[in-house]
Amino acid sequence: MQLNGLEMKILDDADAVAEETTARVLAAAEQAIEARGAFHLVLTGGSTPIATYRRLAQADADWSTWHLYHGDERCLPVDDVERNSLAAREAWLSRVDIPAQQIHDIPAEQGAEAAAAAYEAVVSAAVPFDLVLLGMGEDGHTASLFPGQEVCPGPLVMPVHDAPKPPSDRVSLTPSALCRTRRMLVLVTGAGKRPAMRRWRAGEGLPIARVAVAGNADLILDRAAAP
Ligand code: 6PG
Repeated sequence: MQLNGLEMKILDDADAVAEETTARVLAAAEQAIEARGAFHLVLTGGSTPIATYRRLAQADADWSTWHLYHGDERCLPVDDVERNSLAAREAWLSRVDIPAQQIHDIPAEQGAEAAAAAYEAVVSAAVPFDLVLLGMGEDGHTASLFPGQEVCPGPLVMPVHDAPKPPSDRVSLTPSALCRTRRMLVLVTGAGKRPAMRRWRAGEGLPIARVAVAGNADLILDRAAAP
């Protein structure tokens, strides 16, 4: 099944989406490690990927060659429960042996501008990624790229203020950074996302639609979110 040229897989529920996503992440890792000796993966924030992260924590993988990045981060203290970096550590990264220096958190506690400037160098050295994971908000946002926001074409990382999804200050990879990847997986679950999925299918210029384009992105949904 397709959505605007993207391969779309619709599964029964969020657990099945997590199962499928875990399998695809592990397969992408195996392929990248075999081909290039390392796997560079960008994590999505929010609640959707947590079930996948918990499954990855149980997986048997060669973690020594995994390099992890974040697609966005909230400008909060490092130990704030709303930090994407903390959620990923608690569900997965603290339970496997990925070398600490290969887990690249966005230093969003420094403030949006300083963190974006610091992370620009990290992303510039890492691209092209092997796999980028993305979620989607009910307004069609992805990472911290929101509808109506101005996005400068040049930078790979941008400061975000006045985000409609709290907290208002964030840091986000830009569309050009997110698209510099061999593969992209968009994970969408829950009935609350169905309206945005329908707007996306109708061709609206949503942030997710600008980033997840045919040829580089696959979509994995549960039935509740399917358009
Ligand atoms: C963030 C996320 C954001 C998220 C969507 C979906 O920092 O908030 O990166 O882009 O992926 O808002 O969030 P849920 O998975 O919680 O629905």
